[in-house]
Amino acid sequence: MSQALGVTPPDEDAIDDDAPANVGAGLLSGGGGGGGGGGGKMNATAPAFTPTKKPSAGPVMAGAAADQPGPRTTEQAVDDDYFGSYSYFDIHRTMLDDVARTATYRTSLEKNPSLIAGKKVVDIGCGTGILSMFAARGGAEVVVGVDGAAQIAAVARANIAHAGLGGKVSVVQGKVEELLAAGSIPGAGTFDVLVSEWMGYALLYESMLDTVLAARDTLLKPGGAVLPDIATIHVAGFSRNATSLPFWDDVYGFEMPVVQSTLLKDALKSAVVCPVKGDHVVTSSAEVRSLDMATMTVADTEFSSGEYVLTARADGTRGDELDAEVQAGKGEGATGLTQQGALLTEGGDGSGPVMCYGVVLWFDTAFSARFCKEEAVILSTSPYAKQTHWAQTMLHFPEPIALAPARGGGGGSAGGAVGSKENPAAGIKVRVGMAKCTEEERLRALDISLEYTAVASDGKEGSHHAKIFRM
Ligand SMILES: C[S@@+](CC[C@H](N)C(=O)[O-])C[C@H]1O[C@@H](n2cnc3c(N)ncnc32)[C@H](O)[C@@H]1O
Repeated sequence: MSQALGVTPPDEDAIDDDAPANVGAGLLSGGGGGGGGGGGKMNATAPAFTPTKKPSAGPVMAGAAADQPGPRTTEQAVDDDYFGSYSYFDIHRTMLDDVARTATYRTSLEKNPSLIAGKKVVDIGCGTGILSMFAARGGAEVVVGVDGAAQIAAVARANIAHAGLGGKVSVVQGKVEELLAAGSIPGAGTFDVLVSEWMGYALLYESMLDTVLAARDTLLKPGGAVLPDIATIHVAGFSRNATSLPFWDDVYGFEMPVVQSTLLKDALKSAVVCPVKGDHVVTSSAEVRSLDMATMTVADTEFSSGEYVLTARADGTRGDELDAEVQAGKGEGATGLTQQGALLTEGGDGSGPVMCYGVVLWFDTAFSARFCKEEAVILSTSPYAKQTHWAQTMLHFPEPIALAPARGGGGGSAGGAVGSKENPAAGIKVRVGMAKCTEEERLRALDISLEYTAVASDGKEGSHHAKIFRM
């Protein structure tokens, strides 16, 4: 619904609405782990890979265009697109400018001398070399940065030399998997610490975690540290005000429902990456999955969560309040700031049900006290924390679910389907699954499955929905 940041819509026909979920083994029957394929038809016009940190059409580094002669395999083409996308300075600026992100890494590397000082550190996907330089400044004796994007690897070398850190820090250029196979990363099996910023939208878009796990298994010495070491995915419900629908309620006094229905149709097929405000989260949250980077395997990156029941927020937040920005714009009518529709449809007097329009996913990564003994830190992409360039990932419902406000009933005895306005539910039962897309052209893409059902307090359930969202 809201403009996706860096998520390219898939082929219109590639997914059936309400098709049974087919990602994450055992999705419909419970249980986790296991492979599972993305399924769906091959998208012959699949777009080039779009990285989490979307590059603009800004300056590209010299020699950045793919210039290898001869035919390329699909995997090579995907890799070329992927590493090419990291050849724009804009993308690195976006990451470096994300202070929540970069400063958390800096703290982990510079404020934990018992972990870093005098140690050997490998930086997987070093980009501009920033994490490698943090490690050097934190007292590391030897640092090796690795990056598959030739142009940015050259920039990292230059940055490191300019900082006078060339004696400690070196950069190896190449795709990590190929370098590992060729034994071309010096010091395999001897590194004390592996650091990497590998996270994508909804944590697992971009599939860089597999690379990190392969590097961990070959390069780290037994018991070596991985930074960050814990990643956790969360889910909660969002209100209509979290979507872009209210904008189209009142465009200089005109309503534009065709735009709204088109946006919703698209949002039912693709996950929408967009900032969600904490005030627009309308339910409790649940932990979808927690991953331990020090012990997990690649198989753990595909899963189906347990079932969780999300209930209206205990603090009474309904998600339909007009915030100060909205009130300031009231009457101007041009920018969606009036949000009259939100008021009317959500029972603006605060007495009606709480309306949930879908669920939002976010993640936290911890640099925990297991390795960071002096100063443990957490990088959060929660709607309740300062926004990061990852924003949040929204999965929309085709129809909103009405929830009884906290301590407001939801007994299921009234007429109307459970979860309708006439019969608000006590909660929404959800299950989330993630699996890599198996289509050759979208090898770094992610399929997210969502199952959900409105439930009454007497256990009665509304209809069961199962959908797949592409990223
Ligand atoms: C998210 S950026 C992080 C850059 C830098 N570490 C930072 O924090 O600013 C990820 C980097 O990893 C590199 N990368 C991703 N997958 C890789 C692989 N399989 N082999 C080598 N480099 C890879 C990309 O080229 C990109 O520069």
